[in-house]
Amino acid sequence: MTDLHVSYGAVRAVHGVSFAATAGQVALVLGANGAGKTTSLRAVAGFHKPVSGTVRFAGRDITGVAAHKVVRRGMVLVPEGRKIFAPLTVEENLRIGGYAAPRGSLAPGIAQVYETFPILGERRHSQAGLLSGGEQQMLAFGRALMSQPKLMLMDEPSMGLAPAMVERVLSGARAMADTGIGVLMVEQNAEAGLRVADTVTVVTRGETVWTGTASEARADKAVVHAMLGEAALGGV
Ligand SMILES: Nc1ncnc2c1ncn2[C@@H]1O[C@H](COP(=O)(O)OP(=O)(O)O)[C@@H](O)[C@H]1O
Ligand SMILES: [Mg+2]
Repeated sequence: MTDLHVSYGAVRAVHGVSFAATAGQVALVLGANGAGKTTSLRAVAGFHKPVSGTVRFAGRDITGVAAHKVVRRGMVLVPEGRKIFAPLTVEENLRIGGYAAPRGSLAPGIAQVYETFPILGERRHSQAGLLSGGEQQMLAFGRALMSQPKLMLMDEPSMGLAPAMVERVLSGARAMADTGIGVLMVEQNAEAGLRVADTVTVVTRGETVWTGTASEARADKAVVHAMLGEAALGGV
């Protein structure tokens, strides 16, 4: 994803965001509230058309390709706020996630999700809206897994979760990457994100301002926090 520019009418929300993700790795994108993280992810996943810039996936230019087509190519967005279907059961949510998967893969896909997140198996007949925030996030991951993705885009998976749950949810994201899936994770929570990341990009006010490995970012935490803090203050 190179030099993305995305606008809402006259509002230039994103003007120069670049990041990359690799199979089997967690690519972390850090940015304060309003930095343009959601806008960027939604543009990559085909929900917004970028004004300019390029989205490449698996060697192909998919800039501006619609979301439902992007999913079929193996890229799926786990949206901010999880957006699970609260009145439906856990298993019904997973079935919806598998709508684009090949015939016959639904049952094995669901079994695989329950293996990855056993709590979802235990609660398969529960209404999704009754799950805890962390369980709902795992369900959002599981629903995305049902499309058999090569790349998962995750928009602030730790948002609103208790610290112990943050740890579990982000470890779940790491475990999915360890199976060979590429994970592109957007977070405000730098501490938690850095524990599971391989590479780091920092976005400030709609622009990529820093890129490096997670170990570089961990060694240079003060700089990363300064960039995030400065953005949070919302300077010009
Ligand atoms: N639907 C929208 N219409 C107009 N402006 C928006 C809309 N959504 C987000 N923005 C603006 O775009 C900027 C980036 O927002 P967003 O991508 O949601 O940031 P983040 O996810 O990093 O918090 C912010 O200034 C925000 O106010
Ligand atoms: Mg956001």
